[in-house]
Amino acid sequence: MINDKMTKALNVQMNKEFYNSRLYLSMATFFHDINMDGAASWMEKQAEEETEHAMKLYNYLKDRGARILLTEVPAPPTSWASPLAAFEDAYKHECDVTKEIDDLVELARSLKDNATLNFLQWFVDEQVEEEASTDAVVQKLKMASQGGHCALFFMDRMLGER
Ligand code: FEO
Repeated sequence: MINDKMTKALNVQMNKEFYNSRLYLSMATFFHDINMDGAASWMEKQAEEETEHAMKLYNYLKDRGARILLTEVPAPPTSWASPLAAFEDAYKHECDVTKEIDDLVELARSLKDNATLNFLQWFVDEQVEEEASTDAVVQKLKMASQGGHCALFFMDRMLGER
């Protein structure tokens, strides 16, 4: 039987992952609006992944016989100062998510909940990839910004290949 405190914390994270999905979908609409369809496609795929993260938590709670509670998901921001600003925001956001996952790991450890500890390991590994992939785009966009519109055009094409 899963601990009430752990159940509550996993429910909170599940709802945050649904927010993450909406955040990236909002970034996708921003990129469509400025005709960067490659970056928009990158963000749409990221949004899909975030829904998968939420559903992983949903299914884990279900498997443990815990009560699942869907709460209100706040509206995400809708515009950014530049393509770079959007991806910088994405990178910073992923660093925050890593901290959230680390806090869940600490809670599971303090409760001696080995099943949840084991389950959370997937998210620990995923966050390494999430931070790396968003930061890689930030670094490339910084380089592209020195090359003008042409560099940004090719960068957008590359992002569309994700
Ligand atoms: Fe589910 Fe990108 O954190």
